[in-house]
Amino acid sequence: MPEKFKLSLVHRPRRLRRTAGLRAMVQETVLRPADFIAPLFVVDGKGAPEPVPSMPGVSRLNVADLVKECRALLKLGVPAVALFPKLDARLKDDEGTAALNEDGLVLRAIRAVKKAVPAMTVMTDIALDPYTTHGHDGVLTAGRDDLDNDRTVGILVEMSVLHARAGVDLVAPSDMMDGRVGAIRRALDAAGFDQTGIMAYAAKFASAYYGPFRDAVGTSRGGGPLDKSTYQLNPANRREALIEAALDEAEGADILMVKPAGPYLDIIREVRQRTRKPLAAYQVSGEYSQIQAAARLGWLDLARTRHESLLSIKRAGADMILTYFAREMAALLR
Ligand code: PBG
Repeated sequence: MPEKFKLSLVHRPRRLRRTAGLRAMVQETVLRPADFIAPLFVVDGKGAPEPVPSMPGVSRLNVADLVKECRALLKLGVPAVALFPKLDARLKDDEGTAALNEDGLVLRAIRAVKKAVPAMTVMTDIALDPYTTHGHDGVLTAGRDDLDNDRTVGILVEMSVLHARAGVDLVAPSDMMDGRVGAIRRALDAAGFDQTGIMAYAAKFASAYYGPFRDAVGTSRGGGPLDKSTYQLNPANRREALIEAALDEAEGADILMVKPAGPYLDIIREVRQRTRKPLAAYQVSGEYSQIQAAARLGWLDLARTRHESLLSIKRAGADMILTYFAREMAALLR
């Protein structure tokens, strides 16, 4: 190389990266507290928060502590929470009957939060996995080798109306049964809940990244991973995800969701380009835990990796992100 090598360039993109001021001026994507939805685990009783071993920093909360957490989140600018009950194993059965118990844990949690912190937007998962002994999202067929789609939808419809009656703002069917969004919309309307919205887990993949969540809600089985591949999407399939998103939109979903988020940025981007509805992405338990684990080993910088992971999801096209980092991110961004 000659000493004084000099390019003659019209375009020098680095000019706009020279100072912090210039970099801030040309930044295209910005995270803000209102981008986040905090998933929260709730348990019965009055016990102390129960740390989830595979999710450092995440605990299951009793209803009173849940209300306090919602108050704190709202103060930090986080507008919404997604509630996940962990049921006592004795309440579970083959059919998930506890899901329709009018005084069930998640219904009491919805009522408590909406009463104490009415400005907090509350959404709940609509699926049977917290309630079934087998951990599947619906009820089994007679042969017990698959889920009974239509019978499951019938139960989810009733569950949605119960949640709406308790005051939930958005129901989020996460079961991936065919036709459930339309059936839930019709049932909500017929029961007078035309203002209760639906955030559809539209493209939900059969992912290994749900592992820590299944510990958190007690649906993991000793005998190995729970195979949900007859209803959740094959991680290999892009076009099929777009079909699912289009169906949920046509059936009346108010918000579409892609899940997991980080490994599926291409799907987020493509759904974003095909719909005008708001789009959510779920940075799931395994995405959270792998960042925490690497940070604990000293292999990754927690703050920077956390920020980059969320920024990338928003840059791909998500309008809102469900993330276990919601509270600490909102506190940092304020
Ligand atoms: C259950 C449900 C799951 C998650 C949200 N709702 C797990 C599953 O489908 O097995 C996963 C969330 C996470 O991993 O953070 N319907």
